Amino acid sequence: MTPSVASSALSVPHSRIRELAEIAMGMDGVLKLYFGESNVPTPDYIKRAAQKAMADGFTFYTENAGLPSLRNSLARYYKEVHGVELDPTAEFVVTASGVQALSLAIRCVIDPGDEALVLTPAWPNGASNVALANGLAIQIAQPLIGDRYDIDFRALEAAVTPRTRLLLYTSPSNPLGWVATVDDQRRLLDFARRHQLWLMADEVYERLNYTGPKPTTPAPSILKLATRDDAVIVIQSFSKSYCMTGWRLGWLVARRDLVARATQLNEFVVSHASSFVQRAGETALLWGETILCEMLMRLKENRDFCLNALSKMPGVTVPKPDGAFYLFPKIEGAEDSFDFCKRLLMDAKVGLAPGVAFGAGGEGSVRICYAADRPILEQAMARLSMFLK
Ligand SMILES: Cc1ncc(COP(=O)(O)O)c(C=O)c1O
Repeated sequence: MTPSVASSALSVPHSRIRELAEIAMGMDGVLKLYFGESNVPTPDYIKRAAQKAMADGFTFYTENAGLPSLRNSLARYYKEVHGVELDPTAEFVVTASGVQALSLAIRCVIDPGDEALVLTPAWPNGASNVALANGLAIQIAQPLIGDRYDIDFRALEAAVTPRTRLLLYTSPSNPLGWVATVDDQRRLLDFARRHQLWLMADEVYERLNYTGPKPTTPAPSILKLATRDDAVIVIQSFSKSYCMTGWRLGWLVARRDLVARATQLNEFVVSHASSFVQRAGETALLWGETILCEMLMRLKENRDFCLNALSKMPGVTVPKPDGAFYLFPKIEGAEDSFDFCKRLLMDAKVGLAPGVAFGAGGEGSVRICYAADRPILEQAMARLSMFLK
């Protein structure tokens, strides 16, 4: 008998966003709005920084926690952008992407059989990483109250068991575009403290926030409320703010003991993010604000264009999102959202992500990423409208 793949590996469901994308990738002429990225290339100043870093010899191994110079830049970033003081030597791990930060952090807090509460609809990788660590993700759907998503604290309270170790939320949310207010965060932190849970905040979309007084005002970070002794972990990435999805660079911020252990474990996973990519990350943080501001204005226009188009389509309801770059409309006729997206793909060549991929509360909706160029969005909205008619 040949050995089989471990049952724990087989038990992690395949991403249903990927499943749809894999069909679309074999087709021509598809308007691809299923992934969370724009078609804007990485800004030239970041590319040049990577080329220079290679020429300067940044092609060797670095520290497991990342280059000290990048961690210094990250500490400076938090001071300037959030007014939060962090210790670059003890409170950061640079990772090879946001998803690697998520995976490493979850591995540090979940033992086999432990439970994690996950606010959904959410990007599936959080729950899947809990499953990969042989834990159990308990999904708690965020209800839509009026025109704003909320947190169901009653359901959270009811879901806590002696095995619960973690509460994971995403703000700004993928796919909802919901942004946790400071008050929401205070309640989440109180809840986590009271039940002695780790509170993990996925803040990878923090710069894509449309509610602040300035276009570049970030979404509130949990790090501002929490003390450095709180059991709080923040997941971060260069992918979304700096158009660096393919570079694979992220970081986590956490309590010192977790950071110390995550740093050591990183050795066995990727050791560290690529050296020259880390150098490029330093430059991105240093000079990113102007381009970020331009991108945010374009994203906001795209959001409003798509919202307006969707509001004219029959059977479509869509709350206005405050952050990230997604719309998550509920569509009559999309009760089986995977089947709906597949038909839309085959008939109209529009590729959207099915709501079912995002867990509890997601079925019946579809996710549209509006970070694409305007002409693509215009065509996609026209085709979706025709398809719904
Ligand atoms: C909520 C959320 N967290 C984390 C990530 C990870 O980003 P990356 O692995 O590209 O850094 C994504 C990417 O789509 C995301 O949507």
